[in-house]
Amino acid sequence: MDSITKFNGIDYTNTFAKRISVMHELVKNILSGHLNKGDVIIDIGGGPGIGAKIIDNLGIETTVINIEPSTTINEIPQLSSVKYIPLKMTFKEALDAKMPCAADCLLVVSSEHEIALCNGQAPKKNKKIFFEDMKKFIHKNLKKNGIMVFGFPNYREGASEIEIDRQRRLTESLLGHSHPKEEFFTVEEFSSSFSAQPVVCMKKPMNLANENPEETILRANVAVFKI
Ligand SMILES: C[S@@+](CC[C@H](N)C(=O)[O-])C[C@H]1O[C@@H](n2cnc3c(N)ncnc32)[C@H](O)[C@@H]1O
Repeated sequence: MDSITKFNGIDYTNTFAKRISVMHELVKNILSGHLNKGDVIIDIGGGPGIGAKIIDNLGIETTVINIEPSTTINEIPQLSSVKYIPLKMTFKEALDAKMPCAADCLLVVSSEHEIALCNGQAPKKNKKIFFEDMKKFIHKNLKKNGIMVFGFPNYREGASEIEIDRQRRLTESLLGHSHPKEEFFTVEEFSSSFSAQPVVCMKKPMNLANENPEETILRANVAVFKI
């Protein structure tokens, strides 16, 4: 199953997005303290305008460019304060494309591991290429003093193989696919790659089945970097 086509044709907003709503709430809380009227945000792998919808719910007048290669890009969210620019392309294609405008904020939510997988190598190499590409994209498209907001899932530190296996079976039954630990990112990987500590970093248990959130080993993480 490839990282892009697996999202083609699914009703993302009403299925997947509802399951990972804890992640989106955390992103919303953090963005509320970091965005200003007139900002441009580039959402990388934003599905059917998920970043645009989160920011619109904050009521901040902004422009959101969404770089998304799957057919979910054809679903246009209803927005009132956000000007929305959907671009149907992969992150790799976006590296060579001219963006409509430079960004005050790069937003990447739950798509880092999917984008990395597209590099087709082992997880460690995939992440290395992901960070090289991200730095190129930042250099080209992020304004000086701009911020990067990364929302990413991973497993609780110290979770056992048995716990991860159990979680993966649940994830597969609810979302159709799951990821081994090595494919998920950690905040340390972002920090070491950008040679910077996050200015904000928060994590929350994310129970996909909406049961007791403390009983899950899945974590929603959001980290903000300024480089
Ligand atoms: C789990 S979804 C996350 C969507 C959205 N950001 C959210 O928070 O709900 C992962 C997204 O990454 C996108 N994706 C996969 N490979 C990609 C690539 N190479 N470039 C850009 N987006 C990609 C998928 O199509 C999908 O929409």
